[in-house]
Amino acid sequence: MQTLNLPKPSVFVIFGAGGDLAWRKLVPALYDLFLDHWLPERFAVLGVDRREMADEVFRQHLHEGVDLFSRRGEADEEMWKQFSPHLSYAIADLDDPQAFNDLAGRLSAYDKEWHMQANHILYLALPTDRVEPTAQGLAKARLNRDRQRSRVVVEKPFGYDLDSARKLNHALAEIFQESQIYRIDHYLGKETVQNILAFRFGNTFFEPIWNRRYIDHVQITVAEEVGVEHRGGYYEHAGALRDMIQNHLLQILCLKAMEAPISFDSNEIRNKKLDVLHAIRPIQPDQIHQVAARGQHGAGWIGGTHVAGYRSEPDVTPNSITETFAAVKLFVDNWRWQGVPFYLRTGKRLAARISEISIHFRPVPHQTFPASALLDRRPNRLLIAIQPEEGILLRFEVKQPGPAMYLTPVMMQFYYREAFKAASPEAYESLLLDVMRGDATLFMRVDQTEAAWSVITPILDVWESVRPTDFPNYQAGTWGPEGAEILTAHDGHNWVIPTFLQCQEDMATCRVTAEPQL
Ligand code: BG6
Repeated sequence: MQTLNLPKPSVFVIFGAGGDLAWRKLVPALYDLFLDHWLPERFAVLGVDRREMADEVFRQHLHEGVDLFSRRGEADEEMWKQFSPHLSYAIADLDDPQAFNDLAGRLSAYDKEWHMQANHILYLALPTDRVEPTAQGLAKARLNRDRQRSRVVVEKPFGYDLDSARKLNHALAEIFQESQIYRIDHYLGKETVQNILAFRFGNTFFEPIWNRRYIDHVQITVAEEVGVEHRGGYYEHAGALRDMIQNHLLQILCLKAMEAPISFDSNEIRNKKLDVLHAIRPIQPDQIHQVAARGQHGAGWIGGTHVAGYRSEPDVTPNSITETFAAVKLFVDNWRWQGVPFYLRTGKRLAARISEISIHFRPVPHQTFPASALLDRRPNRLLIAIQPEEGILLRFEVKQPGPAMYLTPVMMQFYYREAFKAASPEAYESLLLDVMRGDATLFMRVDQTEAAWSVITPILDVWESVRPTDFPNYQAGTWGPEGAEILTAHDGHNWVIPTFLQCQEDMATCRVTAEPQL
C-alpha cells in the first residue's frame, strides 16, 4: 500500500490450493499482478493440497479460474504461456510432518536455482480449525524461523469467537512473530475502502465537519444478492454477524471514524483504528433487542429469478437458526462521535448487491427560507459508494433556476470509472502485493481481531441463547426483516434505499446530475 517498489523474489505457497479461494481469487489476482508487471522476475506459486494432481492438471484448473474470475476476462494465451510455468503443485497430507520437510526441501531448491534467498509467503487458505496444526507443521520444519523472509497469511474467519480467536492468536504467537502474520480482511484491499483514508486525510474541507457537531448519523450497508451458494457447511457455523460484521463492516467503521494518523506507518494507522474499536460502547445483554436485529431469508425473487430460502440451500439444516441478515447500532464513545449512531447492516439475498457508507449531516441550524421556498428539503448527505459502483456523491441544496427562490437537492458525483477510465484492481491484488512487499498496514493486527470480537460477543451470546422464533423472517429480494427498521426508527431515522437504486427510482434526486449508468 505504501511504496511502489517491486517485491523481492518470492515463493507463494498456497495451502488448500485445490479450493475455491485459490481458484477464484488468489491465482486470478496473481495473474493480473503479473500482467501489470508487479511480480518480481523470480517468483513461483506452489499449490499444496491433499489430492493427487499433476502440475499440468493444476495449471489447467487455474487457467479456467482465471478465465472466469480475472477482472480482465479470459486469459490471453500468450501471457498465460509466460505465467503458467511459475505454477506447480505438491500433494501433501498436512497431518504428516514429512509433508512439511518435503516443502522445506522444495523451498530451498528454489533458493539454489535462483542463487538467492527468496521470501516465503505461506498462505493458509484453510478452514479455521486447520490453521493452528498447519502452523505447527511449519514450525517443526523450521519454516517459521526466518523472521524477515517467512510470512504467514491467515484467512478469515479468524477464530469462531473471542475465546477461539485468542487461543489461535496465542498459538500463532508461539510460532511466528507478529510482524510475520498477515490476517487478511479482503475489504481492506478494495480501492474504495482504501480511498476513505485518502478522502479524509488528503483533503482539508471534510475533516473539520467530520464529527458529532455536523454529522447526525452514519449508515453502513453491505448488501448481497447472492445466497450462501455452496458454502452452507461453513455458513451454518458462522452467520452474518461473524461472517461480515465482525470483520468487514467493523473495519469500514474504523476507517470512517478513526482520528487522523500522524504518519502512514502501518502501526500508526492500525493504532488509530484500534482506538475506534476500543471506544465502541459495550452492548449490554438486556439491550440487544434495541441495538441488534437478525434475519434469515425465505424464498423469493431476485432479478426475475426465483431463489430458494436459506433452509433449502445445500448443507443447511431444514430448521436452521443461522442468521443471513444482521443489523447493529453502535456508538463510538469519544469526543468526536459521542451520541452519533452508526447503523451497520448486511445480508444475503437482499434486493441488490450494493455496499456503501451513507453519512447524514445535521439540518441547518436556522431556517432562513420560508417553507414555501423548500420544494424538497433534505439534509446534506455524503455517500461513499464501495461497490459495485465506485465513487463519492454529495447531496446539497441549490436554488432552482427561475424568478422565485425555490431550494431543491442535487447530487455532485465522482465515479472512479469516469475519472480514471480504468478498472480498479481487485482487493486481493493489492493485498497479495502488500504481503510480498512486507507491508502490513491493511492487515488485522492481533489486538484488532480480538477487539472486534469483543464488540460483537454480547450479541453472539444472546442470539445463541435465545432462539429466534420467526425465521425465515424476510423474503429474498427485499431489504431484510422488519426488525431492522426498529433500530433506526427508534432514533427517528430510517434505512436509506441505497443511492444508486434511489437514483433510478426517484429521479427527483438525480435529475440534474450526469445520470448514473447502472
Ligand atoms: C466474505 C464472506 O468474506 O465476503 C462472504 O465470507 C461474502 O459470505 C463475501 O459473500 C463478500 O465479499 P464481496 O467482496 O463480494 O463483497
